[in-house]
Amino acid sequence: MLLNTEDFRQAAGRVLPRFVLDYIEGAADDGHCLRRNLDDLAAIELVPRVLRDTTTVDTAIEVFGRKWALPFGIAPTGLNGLIRPGADALLATAAARCGIPFALSTASNMRLEDVRAAAPGSAQWMQLYVMHREMAGQIVERAARAGYEALVLTVDVPVSGNRELDLRNGFRVPFKPTAKLALDVLGHPRWSLRMAPGGSPDFANLTASGDIAGSADVQAALLARAMDRSLVWDNLAWLRGLWKGPLLLKGVLHPDDARLAIEHGVDGLIVSNHGGRQNDASPSAIAALTRVLAAVDGRLPVFMDSGIRRGGDIAKALALGATAVFVGRPALYGLAVDGSAGAEAVLRILAAELVRSMTLLGARSVAELRGAAAAAAG
Ligand SMILES: Cc1cc2nc3c(=O)[nH]c(=O)nc-3n(C[C@H](O)[C@H](O)[C@H](O)COP(=O)(O)O)c2cc1C
Repeated sequence: MLLNTEDFRQAAGRVLPRFVLDYIEGAADDGHCLRRNLDDLAAIELVPRVLRDTTTVDTAIEVFGRKWALPFGIAPTGLNGLIRPGADALLATAAARCGIPFALSTASNMRLEDVRAAAPGSAQWMQLYVMHREMAGQIVERAARAGYEALVLTVDVPVSGNRELDLRNGFRVPFKPTAKLALDVLGHPRWSLRMAPGGSPDFANLTASGDIAGSADVQAALLARAMDRSLVWDNLAWLRGLWKGPLLLKGVLHPDDARLAIEHGVDGLIVSNHGGRQNDASPSAIAALTRVLAAVDGRLPVFMDSGIRRGGDIAKALALGATAVFVGRPALYGLAVDGSAGAEAVLRILAAELVRSMTLLGARSVAELRGAAAAAAG
């Protein structure tokens, strides 16, 4: 019985080849940061308030003028096409059915225009990696034309984290078959049959003909996650010139960086350690959230991801002051198990758990959830 995200994680492990599961699960170095994310969330207590009328519980919020039915969205993840063909559109439609946003990775396996067309009218955010300024500019302009509502610049990948599972599996992109990988694939015939017609997924956003993005050196840079490390705070003005909508930074953990973001006119922050995939010494996202919120002092919406596995975790982040959260791996587990319906099932489980948490805490709305936490702390 698939009752929670952990059940979906285990079920995903049964349907995916080992190297794909390891790519999703992968954490940097020894996985300390990954575990801290989960442990620090688990350690948080929320004290219920009783005898409050919770006949109706409203989970809706408003972000950048757009209503979200639930206070969470799907985080950007690259190479979703390894899980299923058309994965980015499957996730986007699952999010749309739940009335929540989907963030598309630069490293997606479908063109951003096609993902947008798959879920018209829904809230979609575009995540940006800057490997090459001209290419990044083209992606931003295409995202604006296609109707993406916010731009998320990921700032915690100056270089890829050290993911030893991928190294041990011999997994790299472009896919180079080895005996070990071939055995892994052969052991998962259903996955193999599904993937066979399309072959190994490519970075579709970067293969536009005529764009600089299609050039061999830019492709190679993305494959190696070789970012433009000369990108600094002052360069945000360049992005601002290209992008008129909300601009968010993803991967901010230091309160001083939160202050710098405000000085440089950023519209929102996503406190994140990339799900423990980058710097293994980073604090948990939930611990960093509290410090960043104190530095920001209400001047910006502050989102959080990394380690959310239960609706109760969402309640904790919101109670501490997050505007909303994002989930990465849990949506991918659902996708692996049953495509768009599986991803939606995971989102609905998180939603039901959140409603139950809010009811138990005596919070009829997200605003009251925040109030309840303050009262508990006081
Ligand atoms: C398989 C995988 C691929 C990811 N790819 C990207 C990416 O392309 N861009 C990005 O900004 N973050 C990427 N992330 C990080 C997620 O956006 C998010 O920060 C993280 O998954 C949140 O942690 P969680 O998985 O514990 O929910 C990726 C995460 C995973 C698990």
